[in-house]
Amino acid sequence: MIDDAARLIKQKELVAFPTETVYGLGADAFCVEAVEKIFYAKRRPAENPLLVHVSSMEQVCQLVSHLPEDALRLIKEFWPGPLSIVLPASGRVPDIVRGGKKGVGLRMPDHPVALRLIDRAGPLAAPSANKYGRPSPVTADHVRTDLHGQIAAVLDAGPTGVGVESTLIDLQNNYKVLRRGGVSLEAIQKVLGREIEAPDGSSAAQFLTDLVVLLAGDFEQLDIILEDCFKQKKKTALVNNNYQKGPRKSYAGLTREYQLDLIRGGAGLYSIIRECESSNIEVLVFAPLPSDLTGIAASFVDRIKRAASLDQNIN
Ligand code: TXA
Ligand code: MG
Repeated sequence: MIDDAARLIKQKELVAFPTETVYGLGADAFCVEAVEKIFYAKRRPAENPLLVHVSSMEQVCQLVSHLPEDALRLIKEFWPGPLSIVLPASGRVPDIVRGGKKGVGLRMPDHPVALRLIDRAGPLAAPSANKYGRPSPVTADHVRTDLHGQIAAVLDAGPTGVGVESTLIDLQNNYKVLRRGGVSLEAIQKVLGREIEAPDGSSAAQFLTDLVVLLAGDFEQLDIILEDCFKQKKKTALVNNNYQKGPRKSYAGLTREYQLDLIRGGAGLYSIIRECESSNIEVLVFAPLPSDLTGIAASFVDRIKRAASLDQNIN
Protein backbone atom coordinates (compact mmCIF):
# COMPACT_ATOMS: atom_id res chain seq x y z
CA MET A 1 0.00 0.00 0.00
CA ILE A 2 2.68 2.49 0.97
CA ASP A 3 4.68 1.58 -2.13
CA ASP A 4 1.62 2.23 -4.29
CA ALA A 5 1.08 5.56 -2.53
CA ALA A 6 4.73 6.52 -3.10
CA ARG A 7 4.36 5.67 -6.79
CA LEU A 8 1.27 7.88 -7.04
CA ILE A 9 3.14 10.78 -5.41
CA LYS A 10 5.94 10.40 -7.97
CA GLN A 11 3.29 10.48 -10.70
CA LYS A 12 2.30 13.95 -9.40
CA GLU A 13 -0.86 12.69 -7.71
CA LEU A 14 -2.26 13.55 -4.25
CA VAL A 15 -2.28 10.97 -1.45
CA ALA A 16 -3.87 11.46 1.97
CA PHE A 17 -1.89 9.90 4.81
CA PRO A 18 -2.15 9.58 8.58
CA THR A 19 0.05 11.50 10.99
CA GLU A 20 -0.03 11.50 14.79
CA THR A 21 -2.07 14.75 14.74
CA VAL A 22 -4.53 14.75 11.81
CA TYR A 23 -4.59 13.31 8.28
CA GLY A 24 -2.48 15.19 5.73
CA LEU A 25 -2.91 15.64 1.98
CA GLY A 26 0.50 15.03 0.43
CA ALA A 27 2.18 15.97 -2.83
CA ASP A 28 5.81 16.02 -3.99
CA ALA A 29 7.08 19.26 -2.44
CA PHE A 30 9.43 19.95 -5.36
CA CYS A 31 6.77 19.50 -8.06
CA VAL A 32 4.76 22.67 -8.70
CA GLU A 33 2.19 20.84 -10.81
CA ALA A 34 1.45 18.38 -8.00
CA VAL A 35 1.32 21.09 -5.31
CA GLU A 36 -1.15 23.11 -7.41
CA LYS A 37 -3.53 20.15 -7.15
CA ILE A 38 -3.55 20.50 -3.34
CA PHE A 39 -4.75 24.10 -3.52
CA TYR A 40 -7.39 23.15 -6.06
CA ALA A 41 -8.68 20.08 -4.17
CA LYS A 42 -8.96 21.96 -0.87
CA ARG A 43 -10.12 25.25 -2.43
CA ARG A 44 -7.33 26.80 -0.42
CA PRO A 45 -6.21 30.41 -1.03
CA ALA A 46 -2.81 30.56 -2.75
CA GLU A 47 -1.26 32.81 -0.10
CA ASN A 48 -1.72 30.16 2.61
CA PRO A 49 1.59 28.25 2.74
CA LEU A 50 1.96 24.47 3.11
CA LEU A 51 4.05 22.61 5.68
CA VAL A 52 6.74 20.41 4.18
CA HIS A 53 6.87 16.98 5.82
CA VAL A 54 10.29 15.37 6.17
CA SER A 55 11.63 12.08 7.48
CA SER A 56 15.36 12.86 7.75
CA MET A 57 17.84 15.66 8.43
CA GLU A 58 19.12 15.24 4.84
CA GLN A 59 15.72 16.39 3.62
CA VAL A 60 15.74 19.30 6.09
CA CYS A 61 19.08 20.45 4.68
CA GLN A 62 17.66 20.51 1.15
CA LEU A 63 14.87 22.82 2.28
CA VAL A 64 16.48 25.48 4.48
CA SER A 65 19.16 28.08 3.79
CA HIS A 66 20.56 27.63 7.28
CA LEU A 67 19.70 25.80 10.46
CA PRO A 68 19.96 27.93 13.61
CA GLU A 69 21.06 26.45 16.93
CA ASP A 70 17.60 26.89 18.48
CA ALA A 71 16.00 24.96 15.61
CA LEU A 72 18.40 22.08 16.31
CA ARG A 73 17.47 22.19 20.00
CA LEU A 74 13.75 21.94 19.21
CA ILE A 75 14.31 19.23 16.60
CA LYS A 76 16.37 17.17 19.05
CA GLU A 77 13.70 17.43 21.72
CA PHE A 78 10.49 17.13 19.74
CA TRP A 79 11.06 15.37 16.40
CA PRO A 80 9.55 13.20 15.20
CA GLY A 81 6.50 14.83 16.79
CA PRO A 82 3.80 17.51 16.58
CA LEU A 83 5.97 20.61 16.24
CA SER A 84 6.36 22.49 12.94
CA ILE A 85 9.15 25.02 12.56
CA VAL A 86 9.30 27.93 10.10
CA LEU A 87 12.87 28.55 8.90
CA PRO A 88 14.49 30.53 6.05
CA ALA A 89 13.82 28.53 2.87
CA SER A 90 16.48 27.34 0.44
CA GLY A 91 16.18 28.20 -3.25
CA ARG A 92 14.81 24.70 -3.92
CA VAL A 93 11.45 25.29 -2.18
CA PRO A 94 8.92 26.36 -4.82
CA ASP A 95 7.21 29.70 -4.25
CA ILE A 96 3.77 28.03 -4.32
CA VAL A 97 4.69 25.87 -1.27
CA ARG A 98 5.71 28.96 0.72
CA GLY A 99 2.60 30.90 -0.32
CA GLY A 100 5.03 33.56 -1.53
CA LYS A 101 6.68 33.95 1.90
CA LYS A 102 10.42 33.72 2.62
CA GLY A 103 10.18 30.98 5.22
CA VAL A 104 9.31 27.30 4.88
CA GLY A 105 7.42 25.39 7.58
CA LEU A 106 8.96 21.99 8.35
CA ARG A 107 7.43 19.06 10.15
CA MET A 108 8.59 15.50 10.94
CA PRO A 109 5.45 13.54 11.90
CA ASP A 110 5.61 10.80 14.52
CA HIS A 111 3.74 8.15 12.58
CA PRO A 112 5.28 5.03 11.00
CA VAL A 113 3.08 5.17 7.88
CA ALA A 114 3.82 8.85 7.28
CA LEU A 115 7.55 8.39 7.85
CA ARG A 116 7.76 5.42 5.47
CA LEU A 117 5.84 7.30 2.77
CA ILE A 118 8.05 10.38 3.16
CA ASP A 119 11.18 8.19 3.05
CA ARG A 120 10.09 6.79 -0.29
CA ALA A 121 8.52 9.83 -1.94
CA GLY A 122 9.28 12.87 0.22
CA PRO A 123 9.70 15.59 1.15
CA LEU A 124 5.92 16.05 0.97
CA ALA A 125 4.06 19.34 0.95
CA ALA A 126 0.97 18.57 3.03
CA PRO A 127 -1.81 20.57 4.63
CA SER A 128 -4.54 18.91 6.68
CA ALA A 129 -6.69 16.77 4.35
CA ASN A 130 -9.93 18.73 4.74
CA LYS A 131 -11.74 21.26 2.56
CA TYR A 132 -10.48 24.74 3.37
CA GLY A 133 -11.99 26.06 6.61
CA ARG A 134 -13.37 22.70 7.77
CA PRO A 135 -12.21 20.94 10.95
CA SER A 136 -9.15 18.77 10.28
CA PRO A 137 -9.79 15.08 9.53
CA VAL A 138 -8.91 12.63 12.30
CA THR A 139 -10.12 9.54 10.42
CA ALA A 140 -9.82 8.40 6.80
CA ASP A 141 -13.61 8.69 6.51
CA HIS A 142 -13.40 12.40 7.32
CA VAL A 143 -10.92 12.75 4.45
CA ARG A 144 -13.23 10.90 2.08
CA THR A 145 -16.19 13.07 3.13
CA ASP A 146 -14.33 16.28 2.25
CA LEU A 147 -12.19 15.20 -0.70
CA HIS A 148 -13.95 12.26 -2.34
CA GLY A 149 -13.09 12.03 -6.02
CA GLN A 150 -10.34 14.64 -5.77
CA ILE A 151 -7.43 12.53 -4.56
CA ALA A 152 -5.70 9.40 -5.84
CA ALA A 153 -5.61 7.45 -2.54
CA VAL A 154 -6.07 7.57 1.22
CA LEU A 155 -3.77 5.53 3.48
CA ASP A 156 -6.09 4.48 6.29
CA ALA A 157 -4.42 3.80 9.65
CA GLY A 158 -7.44 4.42 11.87
CA PRO A 159 -8.15 7.47 14.05
CA THR A 160 -5.18 9.73 14.80
CA GLY A 161 -3.76 9.80 18.32
CA VAL A 162 -3.17 13.48 19.14
CA GLY A 163 -6.27 14.85 17.42
CA VAL A 164 -5.13 18.46 17.22
CA GLU A 165 -2.71 19.87 14.63
CA SER A 166 1.00 20.43 15.22
CA THR A 167 2.22 23.47 17.10
CA LEU A 168 3.74 25.96 14.65
CA ILE A 169 6.65 28.18 15.66
CA ASP A 170 8.37 30.79 13.52
CA LEU A 171 12.11 30.89 14.25
CA GLN A 172 13.06 33.40 11.58
CA ASN A 173 13.25 36.73 13.40
CA ASN A 174 11.17 37.39 16.48
CA TYR A 175 10.29 33.96 17.75
CA LYS A 176 6.55 33.47 17.72
CA VAL A 177 4.17 30.57 18.13
CA LEU A 178 1.79 31.00 15.18
CA ARG A 179 -0.51 28.13 16.17
CA ARG A 180 -0.93 26.16 19.37
CA GLY A 181 -1.02 22.40 18.95
CA GLY A 182 0.33 19.01 19.94
CA VAL A 183 3.48 20.29 21.70
CA SER A 184 2.75 22.59 24.64
CA LEU A 185 3.97 26.17 24.77
CA GLU A 186 5.52 25.48 28.17
CA ALA A 187 7.63 22.60 26.81
CA ILE A 188 8.94 24.81 23.98
CA GLN A 189 9.74 27.68 26.35
CA LYS A 190 11.64 25.29 28.57
CA VAL A 191 13.87 24.11 25.72
CA LEU A 192 14.47 27.64 24.39
CA GLY A 193 14.87 29.13 27.86
CA ARG A 194 12.63 32.11 27.15
CA GLU A 195 9.02 33.25 26.93
CA ILE A 196 7.40 32.97 23.51
CA GLU A 197 4.37 34.87 22.31
CA ALA A 198 1.39 32.62 21.45
CA PRO A 199 -2.11 33.16 20.04
CA ASP A 200 -5.51 32.60 21.58
CA GLY A 201 -7.90 30.75 19.21
CA SER A 202 -10.71 33.25 19.55
CA SER A 203 -9.02 35.54 17.01
CA ALA A 204 -8.71 32.80 14.35
CA ALA A 205 -11.31 32.29 11.62
CA GLN A 206 -14.21 30.08 12.61
CA PHE A 207 -14.65 26.59 11.16
CA LEU A 208 -17.14 26.30 8.34
CA THR A 209 -20.04 24.28 9.70
CA ASP A 210 -23.83 24.33 9.59
CA LEU A 211 -23.90 23.75 13.35
CA VAL A 212 -24.43 26.60 15.74
CA VAL A 213 -21.53 26.10 18.15
CA LEU A 214 -21.70 27.79 21.55
CA LEU A 215 -19.24 27.88 24.43
CA ALA A 216 -20.82 28.61 27.82
CA GLY A 217 -18.83 31.08 29.91
CA ASP A 218 -20.06 29.58 33.19
CA PHE A 219 -22.61 27.05 34.45
CA GLU A 220 -25.35 29.62 34.89
CA GLN A 221 -24.96 30.58 31.25
CA LEU A 222 -24.95 26.89 30.29
CA ASP A 223 -28.38 26.46 31.92
CA ILE A 224 -29.73 29.49 30.09
CA ILE A 225 -28.34 28.40 26.72
CA LEU A 226 -29.72 24.87 27.05
CA GLU A 227 -33.13 26.00 28.29
CA ASP A 228 -33.36 28.29 25.30
CA CYS A 229 -32.42 25.46 22.91
CA PHE A 230 -35.02 23.13 24.44
CA LYS A 231 -37.72 25.79 24.31
CA GLN A 232 -37.00 26.28 20.61
CA LYS A 233 -37.00 22.50 20.08
CA LYS A 234 -33.49 22.54 18.63
CA LYS A 235 -31.66 19.21 18.36
CA THR A 236 -28.91 19.93 20.86
CA ALA A 237 -25.68 18.20 21.87
CA LEU A 238 -23.62 19.02 24.97
CA VAL A 239 -19.87 18.48 25.29
CA ASN A 240 -18.65 18.10 28.86
CA ASN A 241 -14.97 18.14 29.71
CA ASN A 242 -12.84 16.58 32.37
CA TYR A 243 -12.14 19.90 34.12
CA GLN A 244 -15.74 20.38 35.22
CA LYS A 245 -16.09 20.43 38.96
CA GLY A 246 -19.00 19.49 41.16
CA PRO A 247 -22.06 17.34 40.50
CA ARG A 248 -23.19 17.24 36.90
CA LYS A 249 -26.78 18.08 35.99
CA SER A 250 -28.66 15.85 33.64
CA TYR A 251 -30.56 17.77 31.00
CA ALA A 252 -33.53 15.79 29.71
CA GLY A 253 -33.85 17.73 26.44
CA LEU A 254 -30.43 16.78 25.04
CA THR A 255 -30.21 14.71 21.87
CA ARG A 256 -26.58 13.79 22.60
CA GLU A 257 -24.03 14.21 25.32
CA TYR A 258 -20.26 13.82 24.98
CA GLN A 259 -17.33 13.72 27.34
CA LEU A 260 -14.14 15.35 26.02
CA ASP A 261 -10.80 14.51 27.60
CA LEU A 262 -8.70 17.68 27.35
CA ILE A 263 -5.65 16.02 28.88
CA ARG A 264 -5.27 12.98 26.71
CA GLY A 265 -6.64 14.69 23.63
CA GLY A 266 -7.23 12.08 20.98
CA ALA A 267 -9.50 12.26 17.99
CA GLY A 268 -12.47 13.42 20.11
CA LEU A 269 -13.01 17.10 19.37
CA TYR A 270 -13.05 17.08 15.58
CA SER A 271 -14.91 13.75 15.54
CA ILE A 272 -17.66 15.21 17.73
CA ILE A 273 -18.13 18.19 15.42
CA ARG A 274 -18.35 15.99 12.32
CA GLU A 275 -20.56 13.39 14.00
CA CYS A 276 -23.01 16.09 15.09
CA GLU A 277 -23.10 17.46 11.54
CA SER A 278 -23.92 14.08 10.06
CA SER A 279 -26.61 13.33 12.65
CA ASN A 280 -28.42 16.63 12.04
CA ILE A 281 -27.69 18.18 15.41
CA GLU A 282 -28.52 21.89 15.20
CA VAL A 283 -26.77 23.34 18.24
CA LEU A 284 -23.51 22.06 19.73
CA VAL A 285 -22.88 23.46 23.21
CA PHE A 286 -19.56 23.27 25.05
CA ALA A 287 -19.66 23.29 28.85
CA PRO A 288 -17.49 25.99 30.48
CA LEU A 289 -13.71 25.66 30.35
CA PRO A 290 -11.25 26.99 32.91
CA SER A 291 -9.36 30.02 31.58
CA ASP A 292 -5.96 29.03 32.97
CA LEU A 293 -5.31 25.71 31.26
CA THR A 294 -1.78 24.86 30.17
CA GLY A 295 -0.23 22.05 28.13
CA ILE A 296 -2.09 20.37 25.29
CA ALA A 297 -5.42 21.23 27.01
CA ALA A 298 -4.70 24.87 26.09
CA SER A 299 -4.48 23.82 22.44
CA PHE A 300 -7.88 22.10 22.60
CA VAL A 301 -9.37 25.19 24.26
CA ASP A 302 -7.93 27.23 21.38
CA ARG A 303 -9.75 25.01 18.85
CA ILE A 304 -13.00 25.01 20.83
CA LYS A 305 -12.90 28.82 20.78
CA ARG A 306 -12.29 28.63 17.07
CA ALA A 307 -15.34 26.41 16.65
CA ALA A 308 -17.58 28.48 18.91
CA SER A 309 -19.05 31.89 18.84
CA LEU A 310 -20.34 33.18 22.16
CA ASP A 311 -22.62 35.84 20.82
CA GLN A 312 -24.11 33.82 18.00
CA ASN A 313 -27.87 33.94 17.93
CA ILE A 314 -29.49 30.51 17.84
CA ASN A 315 -32.64 31.63 16.02
O1 TXA B 1 -0.46 18.62 12.35
C1 TXA B 1 -0.32 19.28 11.31
O2 TXA B 1 0.42 20.28 11.26
C2 TXA B 1 -1.07 18.83 10.06
C3 TXA B 1 -0.54 17.48 9.61
C4 TXA B 1 -1.16 17.01 8.33
O3 TXA B 1 0.85 17.54 9.52
N1 TXA B 1 -0.93 19.80 9.01
C5 TXA B 1 -1.59 20.97 9.01
O4 TXA B 1 -1.37 21.74 7.89
O5 TXA B 1 -2.31 21.32 9.92
P1 TXA B 1 -2.30 23.01 7.52
O6 TXA B 1 -1.83 23.46 6.19
O7 TXA B 1 -3.70 22.65 7.67
O8 TXA B 1 -1.88 24.07 8.58
C6 TXA B 1 -0.57 24.58 8.57
C7 TXA B 1 -0.55 26.00 9.01
C8 TXA B 1 -1.35 26.93 8.14
O9 TXA B 1 -2.06 27.83 8.97
C9 TXA B 1 -0.28 27.68 7.34
O10 TXA B 1 -0.69 29.00 7.03
C10 TXA B 1 0.89 27.66 8.29
O11 TXA B 1 0.81 26.42 8.96
N2 TXA B 1 2.19 27.69 7.60
C11 TXA B 1 2.70 26.75 6.79
N3 TXA B 1 3.87 27.15 6.26
C12 TXA B 1 4.11 28.38 6.75
C13 TXA B 1 5.14 29.33 6.57
N4 TXA B 1 6.17 29.10 5.74
N5 TXA B 1 5.06 30.51 7.23
C14 TXA B 1 4.01 30.77 8.05
N6 TXA B 1 3.00 29.91 8.26
C15 TXA B 1 3.04 28.74 7.62
MG1 MG C 1 -5.57 22.82 8.03
